[in-house]
Amino acid sequence: MNDRTFGEETARQWIQIIESRGNPVREQDLSPLLRSWVETASPKRLLEIGCGQGDCSARINLTNRSYVGIDPSPFLINRAKELYESEERRFMSGNAYKLPFSEREFDGVFSVMVWHLLSEVQTAAREMSRVMRPSGHFLMVTANPEARSEWAEFYINVNITGRCLEGDIQGEGKILDHDVLYLHPLDDIVSTLRFAGLEVGSIASFRKSQQGQGREYLIAIQGMRVR
Ligand SMILES: C[S@@+](CC[C@H](N)C(=O)[O-])C[C@H]1O[C@@H](n2cnc3c(N)ncnc32)[C@H](O)[C@@H]1O
Repeated sequence: MNDRTFGEETARQWIQIIESRGNPVREQDLSPLLRSWVETASPKRLLEIGCGQGDCSARINLTNRSYVGIDPSPFLINRAKELYESEERRFMSGNAYKLPFSEREFDGVFSVMVWHLLSEVQTAAREMSRVMRPSGHFLMVTANPEARSEWAEFYINVNITGRCLEGDIQGEGKILDHDVLYLHPLDDIVSTLRFAGLEVGSIASFRKSQQGQGREYLIAIQGMRVR
């Protein structure tokens, strides 16, 4: 596995992006999507895989629910604790490839902008399924693999090899960071989840680039654990 994890510098940039300005994708797309999924799935015990600095946990109604967010970045977990930790909302270190929980601990699992950072989706799907109870619900928001050229436009020095897209992020006249995305084909994602006992109920794409052209670059995949 060659995944690039969020080091301290990338984590700092992510915190700045999330906390420093209004974010239309989060306000207009993500918040209503997360809220409606939580209302419909109505999980009592909720897990977020790759919670970052905790922003998504603050966008959902946690009345009569408990929430745990895990992330491999200690820097982001510390920030999440600082901002949002409470009795019903906990944050801890953890990795999608080896979730620090026993079997069937959660009624609902969600993950936002993480799946396209994972090279080994089979392992992650197996882990997600393992910690969910049968009939539990999941939601994943990730890069639309069919919007490859739209993703390439976010970067400079782009290199595409198979399903892996790499590129540099430019800002303030310099290179800020290097990203590696795994644009796993949709059929692969669905069959990988199915193999792990997770049945996809719906896939919806959303959010076009600022120019409003091309494909919608994000997808929301919802479903249930069926075995
Ligand atoms: C783009 S950020 C999204 C954070 C959060 N989900 C949100 O939307 O606010 C991607 C997050 O995925 C986390 N991540 C990367 N590799 C991961 C892995 N193998 N398991 C769990 N999380 C991972 C990163 O540390 C980072 O916090």
